[in-house]
Amino acid sequence: MPVKKKKVTPSRSKKSSEALAKIRSLESEISIVIQEMEQTVRHFDCLSQFASLVASDASREDLIHGAQKLACELLQCEAAIVDLFDVPVAVALQAKVEERRVKSVLQIPLKIGQNTLGSLQVMNKVALLAAVKPGRALSSFDLGDQRLLEELGKQLAVGLENSRLRLKLKKSFAETVDVLAEAIEKKDRYTGGHTKRVAYYAVLIAKHMNLNAEQSEMVRLAAILHDVGKIGIEDRVLKKRAPLDEAEWVEMKTHPQLGFEIMSRMEGAQEAIDGAHYHHERWDGTGYPRGLKGEEIPLTARIVSLADAYDALTSNRPYRDGVEPALAYEEILRSRGTQFDPRIVDAFIEAFHVEKMGKGSGGSNR
Ligand SMILES: [Fe+2]
Repeated sequence: MPVKKKKVTPSRSKKSSEALAKIRSLESEISIVIQEMEQTVRHFDCLSQFASLVASDASREDLIHGAQKLACELLQCEAAIVDLFDVPVAVALQAKVEERRVKSVLQIPLKIGQNTLGSLQVMNKVALLAAVKPGRALSSFDLGDQRLLEELGKQLAVGLENSRLRLKLKKSFAETVDVLAEAIEKKDRYTGGHTKRVAYYAVLIAKHMNLNAEQSEMVRLAAILHDVGKIGIEDRVLKKRAPLDEAEWVEMKTHPQLGFEIMSRMEGAQEAIDGAHYHHERWDGTGYPRGLKGEEIPLTARIVSLADAYDALTSNRPYRDGVEPALAYEEILRSRGTQFDPRIVDAFIEAFHVEKMGKGSGGSNR
């Protein structure tokens, strides 16, 4: 039996094609909304990551570089430049921009309160969404871009200000350390540069442990501070030109704690303070003032402890001459794993041979 074809009226056909067009239009709008939502989530992620960088101890260079990279990602543009008034840091992608024609620019000030630090500028918006959202002027920056850049700029300004304050604090800490080191050298002239030599040896060991510049600086400061507590030791004990008796030893052993009491008022470098406080602790737990053991002892203190011992061994005392570096070297190796952290002894071995560590004169590791 032949199938009878249903007759489609012109009005019904028109209605279905209109419905189809509506569906397509809705699909397109949904696609744009999804894309915009994904973009918002991506923006939020990027800004959160930058907030973590700001909250960390990131350097000024890392902050600037991070902000420039992020600005390009967030705003989909070809280049971003940070210009600061105090230092000309127009860096990173600028060279690349100079070769290109500037088509669009957006610039915001970097401010902390009323103080303007400089500016953050982005250039040449890339029209990535033009295909799905025709008619929108995507090759220039819009209000949404400006808000994003302002948010990034606020975070960058806070990060730069924190970094400036941290540097200022470190500088004032280093100045205080120098004053204290001078005070101990003046009180006990017999030490004859002991502090400087311990700092020198400690930094060499840090170098052969591959510590970074900041850790190495903490080691240097800890070494300079290590005997500051001797300011509080009586002269008859400190300057005695003979081995100490038991009671005198008890007094002498208070110097790490006395030093800590002086240093605890200083702000800026806890690792350096800890390094000085615990420089008479021993790897096997039999040291003082707290009998800390192994890695309970801060790394800076373990390094200063070895550098201090090496200088004391090679330095002359009123009641005995210092030994030759080779003998001091053997002595240090014998104390690997008892008095000293094995890893630090290994770095010392490398430093001793590579840097040709020599001999001091004067000094004491009491
Ligand atoms: Fe000491």
